[in-house]
Amino acid sequence: MKENGLQNKIQGISRQFTHRIFLPGLFLIFLSTGLEFAEAREHPSPCPQPRFTDQAPPNISKLKNPLESTPENLKKGKLLFQVKAKPLPCKSCHGMTGDGNGPMARGFNPPPRNFTCAKTVNGVPDGQLFWIIKNGSPGTGMLSYKSLRDDQIWQIVLHLRQLAQ
Ligand code: HEC
Repeated sequence: MKENGLQNKIQGISRQFTHRIFLPGLFLIFLSTGLEFAEAREHPSPCPQPRFTDQAPPNISKLKNPLESTPENLKKGKLLFQVKAKPLPCKSCHGMTGDGNGPMARGFNPPPRNFTCAKTVNGVPDGQLFWIIKNGSPGTGMLSYKSLRDDQIWQIVLHLRQLAQ
């Protein structure tokens, strides 16, 4: 009898834990992740997006991408953008789809470039994109990617061009 009573008590406490703490906690976690997603959707990067970025030197700015947009090059560019580039893959700030809304994006002013915005990005020459990826944009969150080879940067530029279509 006595033991049953104790067992009931323990079951009671564990039921209370489940209902009063665990489930509401779980609910709050779901709610906050849901809100994060909703917020990213409600604040899409503007298009056209204002640019205050430094200009590459004219001889670099006029460079054309030496690589062809073959499936192979596009695949490598996308992989670098989404996963491989060091110290941080581009998607951390520019977003998986390049819309400028990556998980770290809200920490930066000016905000990361929205590469899906053709109105802004199509007006930016290949050589300018190359230059900023290599050297960063001083005074902003845009890092310099000295670890990437030139051909890898050009592969990324091919990928960026695709995002704006
Ligand atoms: C830590 C955040 C962050 C990461 C990671 C990042 N960027 Fe950026 N990027 C920015 C911000 C912020 C800007 C806006 C800078 C400005 O307005 O000058 C920017 C701007 C740019 C531009 C704009 C150039 C122009 O002239 O308009 C290019 C191109 C670019 N990023 C490419 C990349 C690529 C490619 C990667 C990955 C290899 C990358 N970024 C990784 C934050 C980031």
